[in-house]
Amino acid sequence: MLDLSNLPPNFIWGSATAAYQIEGAVTEDGRGPSIWDTFSHAPGNVDNGDTGDVACDHYHRWPEDIALMRRLNLEAYRFSVAWPRIVPAGTGAVNEAGLDFYDRLVDGLLEAGIRPFATLYHWDLPQALQDAGGWPRRETAEAFADYAAIVAGRLGDRVADWNTVNEPLCVCWIGHLEGRMAPGERDLTRAVHASHHVLLGHGLVNQAIRASAQLPPAVGIVLNLSPTEPGTDRPEDVAAARRADGHINRWWLDPLHGLGYPADLLDTYQVDLPVRDGDLDLIAAPTEFLGINYYFRQIIVDDPAGRAPFIRQIPVPGSIETAMPWEVYAKGLEEILVRVAETYRPRSILITENGSAWADTVEPSGEVQDKERVDYLEQHLDAVRTAVVRGAPVDGYFAWSLLDNFEWGYGYDKRFGLVRVDYDTQQRTIKASGHRYAELIRAHRAAH
Ligand code: NOJ
Repeated sequence: MLDLSNLPPNFIWGSATAAYQIEGAVTEDGRGPSIWDTFSHAPGNVDNGDTGDVACDHYHRWPEDIALMRRLNLEAYRFSVAWPRIVPAGTGAVNEAGLDFYDRLVDGLLEAGIRPFATLYHWDLPQALQDAGGWPRRETAEAFADYAAIVAGRLGDRVADWNTVNEPLCVCWIGHLEGRMAPGERDLTRAVHASHHVLLGHGLVNQAIRASAQLPPAVGIVLNLSPTEPGTDRPEDVAAARRADGHINRWWLDPLHGLGYPADLLDTYQVDLPVRDGDLDLIAAPTEFLGINYYFRQIIVDDPAGRAPFIRQIPVPGSIETAMPWEVYAKGLEEILVRVAETYRPRSILITENGSAWADTVEPSGEVQDKERVDYLEQHLDAVRTAVVRGAPVDGYFAWSLLDNFEWGYGYDKRFGLVRVDYDTQQRTIKASGHRYAELIRAHRAAH
């Protein structure tokens, strides 16, 4: 029986989404195009040719979605603000109608007693900024701060909790090196330059929020972290796993915590970083929390014939895999939390995402009995509990995701929701996992 009573009494229970994955309404009320509109509309980039044009139609159905959050007993909701709704061309004119949407959403959340956590960049860069050079260019980080100041100025009297950037790894390595996400580039130099400017953007936005918000803000970046292990005990694979740890984890964690970029990775990439005086201090400026997204560990072998960082992930024989297919490995969450706590000593950690995709089926009764997702949720919450007992300062957990939604390059086939979405009718159905989560939240609250 899962016992969560030793999670802190004020533990924050939430769920998360992102604008492009749920909102739809991509041309409504003055929203400009983003790199994900472009990428998803180009043939071959997304399974089944899916796009975020309609998605969960949350732009119109947000009151119904807030009602669902209440039924799930959520105390907090992490959503992202679409930059192209606020500053459609990336810089310059501000679109009031875009700000009005998030105003209504935040008011609705507060009326429902749900604490809003706003993410400022969850991958939907205005296309105009991409056309001007995108994240590899320093001006994009500066434009990010200008946009963040506008949002914090408007919502910062009611929103206190801010995530700057979601998953720089995906933005830089998957978007600019592997080409599997927008903008779909495969260029190490541009990827490494993007990584510095995304981190710089975090630093500038951290400052901008403090200068523009009325409520004292709590700010944090969101990193997706994975333990890495060598596939064999060959020295080449052991070294490759260490490189993978650098590429996936330390490349972000080290500079954010004042240690600069890891020297071993600089050697591997062999790319000059566009760092200017003061950048590293901005990147390492204090924040109130670190957001961690956790999904899987990575078993790594050397890939000398590939390109930098010369690593290849291999499957884990005999493991249970989700529909992605990602290995289910809850112990990895405990490992990451304890390691980050011991090595980097963040004041507070929020698990800003954790969840799983399964091939859910709907029973004739209309119910969704997603036992695998229930098990996944319980195993990972138990890993959080163990990490807390071992001293990790974890203060909250956001299940990914509130709703089934647009899973980027995989489109709508991969369902992560606690709530099922029927994309033909937009009907929402709380899955067994959603009911279980609501029950766990209620029990934890009752115990404190
Ligand atoms: C992390 C991303 O932030 C989110 O957008 C995505 O849907 C989930 N991982 C699942 O892949």
